[in-house]
Amino acid sequence: MTSPEPEETRRSLPEPVTAVTDTAGAWLPARMSEVESGLLAAVQGEGELSDDAVRTLNAGGKRMRPMLVLLCAGPEAGDAAVRAGIAVELVHMASLVHDDVLDRAPLRRGIPTVYASSGRERATSLGDRLFSTAFKVLVDGGDADAVVEVSATAVDLARGELKQREGAFNMQLDEEEYFERCGLKTGRLFEAACVLGRTSTGGDPGPIGEFGHRIGLAFQLLDDVLDIAGPPERTGKARGTDLLDGTVTLPLIIAARFDPALAALDLRALDEETAAIACDRIEATGALDEVRARAIALIEEAKQGLTDAGIESEQRELLELIADGVVLRYS
Ligand code: FPP
Ligand code: MG
Repeated sequence: MTSPEPEETRRSLPEPVTAVTDTAGAWLPARMSEVESGLLAAVQGEGELSDDAVRTLNAGGKRMRPMLVLLCAGPEAGDAAVRAGIAVELVHMASLVHDDVLDRAPLRRGIPTVYASSGRERATSLGDRLFSTAFKVLVDGGDADAVVEVSATAVDLARGELKQREGAFNMQLDEEEYFERCGLKTGRLFEAACVLGRTSTGGDPGPIGEFGHRIGLAFQLLDDVLDIAGPPERTGKARGTDLLDGTVTLPLIIAARFDPALAALDLRALDEETAAIACDRIEATGALDEVRARAIALIEEAKQGLTDAGIESEQRELLELIADGVVLRYS
């Protein structure tokens, strides 16, 4: 695989990922470059969908999942880890492109979504294309076990999304249902990234998947805080988007215990103005601090669990750095 220019690679690896690449040995940036060029090769040259695909690829993704694959593989990371990194990022990208169709989202990471710029049909087709390419990359490499892991993960992602649709506008949704949904739609792909990294070098995954699952959950919790807290200049989308979509998240579940007006909220009746007022009310209850504290606790549990997974020294330091990065990015 050809490597992109170093500067180009660095631009595509924003904080907190660069903190990890700067700390790791040369093997990590070298392998991340291979992931990057592999992603580009995987989406380029397919005519009509290629422009949207390349734009999606360069839309500011943090590449946390491929980074986790490589870190869990360690300095022995080889071509199988690179392919797994490409595959998990393609599944991630596909799920976001489809998510934006389902949510009719105008913006992601501050730029128009494929749905907004190219329409529902192209966005759906592009998501399908990215999703199928993930499996092609793994099959071309003969990685049968990785296909098993990624297909099970994709089923869980879709289950998570379905649960979100089932629970839409339901103010009775409880924490358990919320965590189950987040585990499926976000935790599971982080988990798969860790498992794939470990198995790519012939290792037993052991409890490493738990590490990924926990930091994925923390990531989702903080994403849900940002939806309420904004600011839009930072998040790249309007405050209260989840509320307007009918998505009941942990900040609202907790805030509704303290504010009867929020407990009685009719999500279907919200518009942008009343959603912003609801966001202020949620924030005023202290629920955002509570959710942030839970995310930090999950990160701490994830880091402590590395002992059970038998991960020590440099590999542990790097995994802890990326786990902390999930929080730092949102602090
Ligand atoms: C973004 O989270 C969306 C997801 C984490 C998963 C979306 C999953 C699907 C659309 C179904 C599965 C699709 C495939 C291709 C397997 P969010 O909506 O909480 O956050 P956002 O604010 O970034 O939209
Ligand atoms: Mg969404």
